[in-house]
Amino acid sequence: MEKTLLLIKPNVVTRSKTGEILACVEKEGFVILGLKHLLLSPQEARLFYHMHQNKSFLSELVEFITSGPIVACCLGRENAVYHLREMAGATDPRKAKSGTLRAIYGTDVQRNGVHASNPDENPLLEVHFFFSTHEFLS
Ligand code: RTP
Ligand code: MG
Repeated sequence: MEKTLLLIKPNVVTRSKTGEILACVEKEGFVILGLKHLLLSPQEARLFYHMHQNKSFLSELVEFITSGPIVACCLGRENAVYHLREMAGATDPRKAKSGTLRAIYGTDVQRNGVHASNPDENPLLEVHFFFSTHEFLS
């Protein structure tokens, strides 16, 4: 079973919509292998988003992702990485297909509700950023 990382961002967690997102992913056949609630420090956020270190939006992104609690979730299913990106929808919720998580729970490109690992950015490494091996089911 392939693994991927879902982050539920502060704009969803603070609106008490975490359970709705978890129910949506379970309905799509994902198994919740690991789950934790945490607050990232700016240093941790910069490390996690290291691929965006030269982007103009990095400071804004770090400020938002550290502005409140997030929920990190290790999810498993066949083609998990691809399917979660499909469920998440386009980065900008205003351009995301209707029915996708970002279309439902996002408000703008920054407050877009969820992060889903990108196949080109080592999803397993992202899982291990949040979970040590004894903290998720394999
Ligand atoms: P993610 O990594 O969160 O799943 O999103 P993604 O692949 O669709 O988008 P990515 O390009 O990796 O961007 C990471 C996060 O940075 C914020 N962003 N802001 N202001 C902007 O133009 C802009 N572009 C991206 C978003 O929060 C995005 O999820
Ligand atoms: Mg990305």
